Amino acid sequence: MHLNALFGLVFGLATVRVAAVQVNIQHTGRTLTLGNVSYFVPPSPVSSLPNAAFLVKPASGDLIPFSVIPTSKKVFDQNALEATIAQWSAKDDVWSKAFLTGIYLSFNGTHGTPVASLGSAQKKFGIDFVLQSKGFLGGVSLKTPLPSGPYFLETATGKIFEAYRLYNDENQSFLYGTIPDGKDGFDILSARVPGASTETIGVPSRLYFTPTPEKPLAGFRVAVKDIYDIKGLRTGCGNRAFWQLYPAKERTAPAIQRLLDGGMVLVGKAKTSQFANGETATDDWVDLHAPYNPRGDGYQDGSSSSTGPGTATAAYPWLDFAVGSDTGGSMRGPAGANGVFGNRPSHGAVALDDVMPLSPELDTAGIFARDAKLWATAGHWWYQNFTSFSKFPKKIIFPVDFFGSSFLSTPPAEGTASATFNTFIAKLEHFLNTTRTEVSFAGLWNTTKPANASAPTLQTLLSTTYADLITLDQIALVADPFIADFGAANGGRMPFINPAPLARWGYGRALPAGRKEEALTNKTIFMDWVADEVLKAGDPETCADSILLYPQSSGSTNYRNRYIRLV
Ligand SMILES: *[C@@H]1O[C@H](CO)[C@@H](O)[C@H](O)[C@H]1NC(C)=O
Ligand SMILES: *[C@@H]1O[C@H](CO)[C@@H](O)[C@H](O)[C@H]1NC(C)=O
Ligand SMILES: *[C@@H]1O[C@H](CO)[C@@H](O)[C@H](O)[C@H]1NC(C)=O
Ligand SMILES: *[C@@H]1O[C@H](CO)[C@@H](O)[C@H](O)[C@H]1NC(C)=O
Ligand SMILES: *[C@@H]1O[C@H](CO)[C@@H](O)[C@H](O)[C@H]1NC(C)=O
Ligand SMILES: *[C@@H]1O[C@H](CO)[C@@H](O)[C@H](O)[C@H]1NC(C)=O
Ligand SMILES: *[C@@H]1O[C@H](CO)[C@@H](O)[C@H](O)[C@H]1NC(C)=O
Ligand SMILES: *[C@@H]1O[C@H](CO)[C@@H](O)[C@H](O)[C@H]1NC(C)=O
Repeated sequence: MHLNALFGLVFGLATVRVAAVQVNIQHTGRTLTLGNVSYFVPPSPVSSLPNAAFLVKPASGDLIPFSVIPTSKKVFDQNALEATIAQWSAKDDVWSKAFLTGIYLSFNGTHGTPVASLGSAQKKFGIDFVLQSKGFLGGVSLKTPLPSGPYFLETATGKIFEAYRLYNDENQSFLYGTIPDGKDGFDILSARVPGASTETIGVPSRLYFTPTPEKPLAGFRVAVKDIYDIKGLRTGCGNRAFWQLYPAKERTAPAIQRLLDGGMVLVGKAKTSQFANGETATDDWVDLHAPYNPRGDGYQDGSSSSTGPGTATAAYPWLDFAVGSDTGGSMRGPAGANGVFGNRPSHGAVALDDVMPLSPELDTAGIFARDAKLWATAGHWWYQNFTSFSKFPKKIIFPVDFFGSSFLSTPPAEGTASATFNTFIAKLEHFLNTTRTEVSFAGLWNTTKPANASAPTLQTLLSTTYADLITLDQIALVADPFIADFGAANGGRMPFINPAPLARWGYGRALPAGRKEEALTNKTIFMDWVADEVLKAGDPETCADSILLYPQSSGSTNYRNRYIRLV
């Protein structure tokens, strides 16, 4: 074909106009690399700079990293800049010197007309432009004032975007990362660290947030176990069919809302073992892959059921908190196995509406942290019904039933878990100016059991109490409705259920009628007995009269590739 003819054909086609086609492009944000670090730029801007194209010479890229620096100084000079750099580098993992391409000085002082006088610092740090807020001579205002920290400026439009640093979820603790959807809910983060083969989590700059009495947790990052509902996201409970069946939630569980109201930043949903049942890595985690415990060689079981929250807290310095739950050890197990702080609070400490139940009589919400003081701050904010007490209890209860009598007769050998416990207990004794009181629960039961309790031993009383409650409750509240809903949507088929919950539900279905009531009665007898005879409450200064110690585990290894059901 002749070149002219081809040109004519293409030209001709290009000028044919058809009815306007509806192009519906929705931006999902951008991923970029700056100084070897991956960032996410959310789709919606947080402010804009009028006349950006005139004020900032269009640089090489469409997005320019810059820093908003508030100052009350009359002269913002090299020293002030270097002090800011030192402070921000220590405080924040998102900001870096790469954001010094430009700076916007935002004057928050009261006196006179401030000036920026950076001298040679501008060249030293490669600062391309310095803009100043109104108040400075010839200053410009941002459309919406911004807190300090790193931002991206789109020069063509003047739009300003926040910076999220992207991290790789190497330990596979997360289901996905999240970002706010601008409507009180959350979206799944669309970004991925280039080259990463696991989930990507995005965290906003810590510099955007300042804790206040109203928001004491502002800027602290939190991951949430995937049994808590979050507006805009599905709740999966560790089961793929469950995740697919039910739509995104329309409201956030009040327990999580309370943490968000306190300023916490949700960065992702973390994995739970299926329906919060106890699962071991190799035998049981069929629908999801079990998260990795970062301790040791990385192949210890992470414990369950709050496995994702526990392993994430242990593995990732960029995460401050993770919310889990504890019915029969689901916080305490992962906290111990992964070496972080974690708690089971008193039952009823926070509302568990919009949270998948295992057993409402026993379910509680706990939080993991690596920093004990931060952990206490979160607890004080979260557990609103708790009173602060002025003194520590003076009695340490040391149950021989749990520690074993050999612990007492022979000093624990160096390097054993018992020696570690003993060192801790000795420090606690010193701190409280007291010594441990050895208690045998079995013996105490014999001498103090309530008159109307027929159980000869605690073992008899509690034989199947826990097993009966969790299975019967979860069958009624979760399994039966789920299986019915799934069947209705799938021609009567059963959803896939992992072996652990399947076996437990099977056990529950085979129980005779009346076992729920019996289990509840036994639980109540035990609970009342503990309150009357073991941990006595009501002291106005110390809350309970004692601290009860028990070993979370024996400290032995538990490799994730060990088959335990192989017989
Ligand atoms: C980026 O990574 C490369 C290769 O690891 C290294 O040589 C370079 O110094 C890094 N650059 C920055 C800004 O960290
Ligand atoms: C002004 O900004 C500086 C630097 O962030 C901060 O330390 C100071 O508290 C701020 N002053 C006011 C009045 O907000
Ligand atoms: C877990 O995360 C830590 C910290 O990011 C990392 O050093 C370690 O290699 C990870 N473990 C595995 C098994 O990926
Ligand atoms: C505090 O306790 C009361 C009474 O038990 C309960 O109604 C309320 O929901 C609790 N508040 C919170 C925030 O848990
Ligand atoms: C520790 O207790 C003993 C005996 O009860 C008492 O004499 C002593 O003053 C206490 N010491 C402290 C530091 O409280
Ligand atoms: C408690 O009583 C039971 C049953 O009478 C008995 O078997 C057990 O040895 C007693 N335990 C202790 C520690 O006294
Ligand atoms: C046992 O007796 C106590 C005290 O009389 C009573 O409060 C409690 O409800 C009774 N418990 C059961 C399970 O009957
Ligand atoms: C309740 O306690 C009785 C002994 O008083 C025991 O025989 C029974 O097995 C217990 N039931 C459950 C569900 O634990």
